[in-house]
Amino acid sequence: MIKYISKSIKNTEDFASRIASVLKGNEIIAMFGDLGAGKTAFTRGLCRGLGIEDGVSSPTFAIVNAYSGKYPVYHFDMYRITSIDDLFATGYYDYLGTGVIVIEWSENIESELEPDCIRIKITKTDDDNERIFEVEGMDDYADIIC
Ligand SMILES: Nc1ncnc2c1ncn2[C@@H]1O[C@H](COP(=O)(O)OP(=O)(O)OP(=O)(O)O)[C@@H](O)[C@H]1O
Ligand SMILES: [Mg+2]
Repeated sequence: MIKYISKSIKNTEDFASRIASVLKGNEIIAMFGDLGAGKTAFTRGLCRGLGIEDGVSSPTFAIVNAYSGKYPVYHFDMYRITSIDDLFATGYYDYLGTGVIVIEWSENIESELEPDCIRIKITKTDDDNERIFEVEGMDDYADIIC
């Protein structure tokens, strides 16, 4: 597990951008963390690292936003997904393997996550500008990412 302490939104975006630099293009990145944890900020940095400069926001109503960069990125928000039928209806299963899948509110689909997905838990601290990132599944790249 990689642990990274971000001290600012810029730290978070740069961290995510470094993660983007080692992706192969078919990963599932499952993010866990409360409202305002920084899931969208992380996704924005990840997208920037893949050459996608704007338009990244929480796809709360759309459920999935698609971006096109070095790889396709499918950015899901599972906040409103409460069943496997709901998940099926988003097209989630059809997107697997076709690009980088980045998921907000993975808590809601945890039983459906692939065992080898990258898991990122984001925790707030008592410092408003600080976030703790715990990343599972990227240990081989720790030198580049941290
Ligand atoms: N170190 C940090 N990293 C990321 N965001 C931070 C940090 N410190 C403060 N913030 C603030 O936290 C908020 C993170 O918002 P963001 O939309 O990324 O959260 P989210 O997890 O996607 O929330 P939601 O569940 O509502 O979609 C922003 O207002 C940002 O400025
Ligand atoms: Mg969000």
